[in-house]
Amino acid sequence: MTIRILIVGAGAIGTFYGSRLATLTNVKVSALCRSNYRAVKAHGFKVTSPKYPEQTFQPEHVFSSPDEARKAGIQWDYLLIATKALPDVHDDSELLEGLVGDQTSIVLLQNGLGIEEPYAERFPKSAILSAVTIASASQPEHGIIKHNRWTRISIGPWLPHLDHGGSGAQSTDEAIISKGAKLVELLKASQIPDAEEYDHAGLQFVRWHKIAINAAMNPSSVLSGGCTNQEMAKDSELGEHLLGVMVEILNTAPKILGKPLPSALASPEKILESTRRNDSGSRPSMWSDWEKGARMELEVILGNPIRMARKKGLEMPRLQTMYALIKGAQANREKAKL
Ligand SMILES: NC(=O)c1ccc[n+]([C@@H]2O[C@H](COP(=O)([O-])OP(=O)(O)OC[C@H]3O[C@@H](n4cnc5c(N)ncnc54)[C@H](OP(=O)(O)O)[C@@H]3O)[C@@H](O)[C@H]2O)c1
Repeated sequence: MTIRILIVGAGAIGTFYGSRLATLTNVKVSALCRSNYRAVKAHGFKVTSPKYPEQTFQPEHVFSSPDEARKAGIQWDYLLIATKALPDVHDDSELLEGLVGDQTSIVLLQNGLGIEEPYAERFPKSAILSAVTIASASQPEHGIIKHNRWTRISIGPWLPHLDHGGSGAQSTDEAIISKGAKLVELLKASQIPDAEEYDHAGLQFVRWHKIAINAAMNPSSVLSGGCTNQEMAKDSELGEHLLGVMVEILNTAPKILGKPLPSALASPEKILESTRRNDSGSRPSMWSDWEKGARMELEVILGNPIRMARKKGLEMPRLQTMYALIKGAQANREKAKL
């Protein structure tokens, strides 16, 4: 049976994974585009990678708007949500109205915490899969997707009723879990060997772990005026700051999730050490967004973790300081544009 997948926000990361899945004969992948629509409709995507042969990925359907996608009347198996997560700008769960059927799983590929909630509120009966990826990809020109390195994607069901030792497993849980397992199987078949399946709590720890890195590196690069990851890790004061932020977040996560941090996740010291060795010259994506004058993913990477902690009476002062400063910098830049 053919599996139909729609990439919602066909930019760098969504198209990278979509293009891999499209190599499978039993999978058809379509793309909901925005500014790259004309280029993609005319020529498809060109995907380059140090790991895979260059690929021209011609989606089964290329849509210019959610309305056009709705009119196609397709029963989607998976909606891969890969827009930037900017809840302060737009609630992207709205894009999915009319696209979610009984068999559809909503797969959230975005960085950050609390990204599942708007989708769960709008589609309370639907299967939601939360996915964290450490792959690095970019779209230097419309329709040109450059996979830079890494492929790992961790996928787990979003079952918040199981939080804090909740025993309230629901009859639909198994179906959601098996949809996640199927997606992992498809990704592995499409040559993503490190596609991994997690349970709900395990995946949320992977999310917290990833945002510990993002929340340390991303705003620090912007606030330091554009330091690379390696420059920050090697500088004694900035290195201490990165370590302090990661430790603060990873000490808070178990108190929020009600379980100890899995020992398999790399420690802040290890992360810093490998960043010191990695001389790729790369800067975090928040720096590129800042340079372009685009909105940064501040709420899901900084604001939501702070708010989740506060609900439990916990503070993360290092993170809060950066959040306040970078939010102020963004607001001032936007005032200056008026
Ligand atoms: N890139 C990476 O290496 C990487 C790695 C791990 C995680 N992530 C996470 O993945 C998410 C996506 O990042 P990305 O780098 O792939 O961003 P991106 O290249 O900017 O892709 C996002 C895409 O979504 C499109 N889009 C936004 N709103 C839309 C709408 N209303 N209708 C249709 N299309 C819409 C954008 O179109 P426009 O161009 O018109 O804005 C863009 O093509 C983020 O949460 C990021 O943190 C990225």
